[in-house]
Amino acid sequence: MTTSNGSARVVAHANIALAKYWGKSDVTRNLPAVPSLSLTLGGLRTVTQVTIDPTLSSDTAVLDGAATTGRALARITELLARVRKLAGETAPARVESSNEFPTAAGLASSASGFAALALAAVHAYGLTLEPAAVSALARASSASAARSVFGGFVTLGAGAEAAAPLAGPEHWPLVMLVAVTVPGPKSIGSTDGMQHTAATSPYYRAWLEAAPELFAAAQHAVLTRDLNALGAAMEQSTLLMHASMLGARPAVIYLAPATLAVMAAVTELRQRGVPAFYTMDAGPHVKVLTLPEYAAEVEHTLTSHPAVSGVIRCTPGPDAKVVSEGRA
Ligand code: PMV
Repeated sequence: MTTSNGSARVVAHANIALAKYWGKSDVTRNLPAVPSLSLTLGGLRTVTQVTIDPTLSSDTAVLDGAATTGRALARITELLARVRKLAGETAPARVESSNEFPTAAGLASSASGFAALALAAVHAYGLTLEPAAVSALARASSASAARSVFGGFVTLGAGAEAAAPLAGPEHWPLVMLVAVTVPGPKSIGSTDGMQHTAATSPYYRAWLEAAPELFAAAQHAVLTRDLNALGAAMEQSTLLMHASMLGARPAVIYLAPATLAVMAAVTELRQRGVPAFYTMDAGPHVKVLTLPEYAAEVEHTLTSHPAVSGVIRCTPGPDAKVVSEGRA
């Protein structure tokens, strides 16, 4: 067994599902119950450095400048342990990660975070793996993170170990405007939310039945660059996902009054002939998809809306990438 002092620094981008994943077919292995399709977003970057340090007694992690403990650190250690096992290494690592987007705004950072961590750990521990194997490592920690290993439009099949690229970022220069809504109460984490929905919602079965068809429609719309078809599938996917949560006992409610107000503003834009479509995840923020020529108008509508505290403009982003690596 060798003990190296490798390090690697990686940049990965967040992704937003156009066709959602909600529910697991295998909880232990963290496999998704339904297929999902996402867009990797150039505007939302995470930078993660992993440095192997044999002088440490266990892994340490600093996220956005604050030392991590408890469950958050345990999830990081679990991923590092899987990489160490593959590499035949034992030395702990120091992890430093920062999100170049407002985490305080409650935007999901686990996707870019675990994708960046998986790729950085693989390189720091001296492994050479295919992107699909890196994606599988990220997926075991957070299924949506599997998709952030790849740029552009990405799929993650039902029960799949790894995500797969569908089309690169240059395929279709869509714009996604992330409307950060006024803060609400802290909500339940996605894994707990999914498990609770699966266990108690009579609508979960209907969601499982409908999701593959919406995924197929979204995939076809991406490949044919048909925004109206993509928008219709995307909105139905998020609404059915949230409907399954609303049917849980007690209900899982991520949609806030501000969310509904922004959804109405997007629908109104569309009634005026502006192609704009919404999607929401495990939080109150609204992500709006449009074409570049309409982006300024949609952005103006969102920015001037009283329920919106800020707008982040994103375009299709690239693969997760190693920006530097070393071996001491
Ligand atoms: O992979 P997780 O645990 O972050 O779950 C992601 C769930 C959604 O964001 C709501 C949907 C998705 O496909 O990203």
